[in-house]
Amino acid sequence: MGKVVVVGSFNVDHVWTTPALPRAGETLSGEYATGPGGKGFNQAVAARRAGADTAFVCALGDDLGGQLARSLAAADGIDLRDQRSVRPTGTAGIYVDGEGRNSIVIGAGANAELSEDFIQAQRDTLATAAVVLAQLESPPDAVLAAMRAARAGGAVALLNPAPANATVTAELKAAVDILTPNETEFAALLARHVGERVDGDAIAALDQARLHAFCRELAPEASVVVTLGASGCFVSHPAGALRGDESAYYRIPAEQVRAVDTTGAGDAFNGALAASLAEGGDAPFATRVRFATRYAALSTERHGAAAAMPRRSDLAERFGAA
Ligand code: RIB
Ligand code: NA
Repeated sequence: MGKVVVVGSFNVDHVWTTPALPRAGETLSGEYATGPGGKGFNQAVAARRAGADTAFVCALGDDLGGQLARSLAAADGIDLRDQRSVRPTGTAGIYVDGEGRNSIVIGAGANAELSEDFIQAQRDTLATAAVVLAQLESPPDAVLAAMRAARAGGAVALLNPAPANATVTAELKAAVDILTPNETEFAALLARHVGERVDGDAIAALDQARLHAFCRELAPEASVVVTLGASGCFVSHPAGALRGDESAYYRIPAEQVRAVDTTGAGDAFNGALAASLAEGGDAPFATRVRFATRYAALSTERHGAAAAMPRRSDLAERFGAA
């Protein structure tokens, strides 16, 4: 079993659950809860609970949020490598509606300070990785350094290009082995890199030829997994590196679940996929993606982000076999 190193954000999430998402000028009442989040931390917890030896590289403030991150990482057995920042620990304000959908505002704080130098200083940790997983809530230089360190050390460079408003530079595109956008992120990538505007339905209907054309724009030999929420995901291996699969393009359906909170579902998927890849062995990529799909589905049946990440045994209980 290889190790997963996650490079990314930690946020203290402040969550209001309301019947509907608030509109401009509107005042609503909701149930309030706070808990750990940030795409990086959520993915690290998911990777760990999915069974991987996991390290998490991030930037934290010298405050209560930073203390929370340290104690929670320790409780989950995550090897925390934190750059200390004078800025406050990251925060997120999240509204969740009656159908489990959300709207999020991020206060990056310390996350904005995660530096390329600090990533370089973690080279010993990065060198032990089987998979390095990053997102785009951290500065582009730091993310690029992490992806390049992955490649240099023979690890899989896995990038979740979230959130959708973040930029994926040409250098970053070239440094990634597997890219995992959701529908919105994929639409943003297509618009920016191919000049093509598509909506959710059109994405779901994208054919193999067009997807492969897009992948050529993106990175040579990179595999792409587009997650489609309750519709599952599709997988594309454009350059013929099949990662154990029989087909270069296929769909995987989602599990039927009763979602109460989809916050962090993408993070659950990415952490679980990283853990499965780090396991090694000769399981096809499709098997690993199916595991990640189930893992993410189960995370939506619980409230919260990092706190909602299931354990491997929960998966076995819910779906029979994990
Ligand atoms: O992906 C979900 C996460 O996005 C939340 O935990 C929030 O902190 C934001 O980073
Ligand atoms: Na959840």
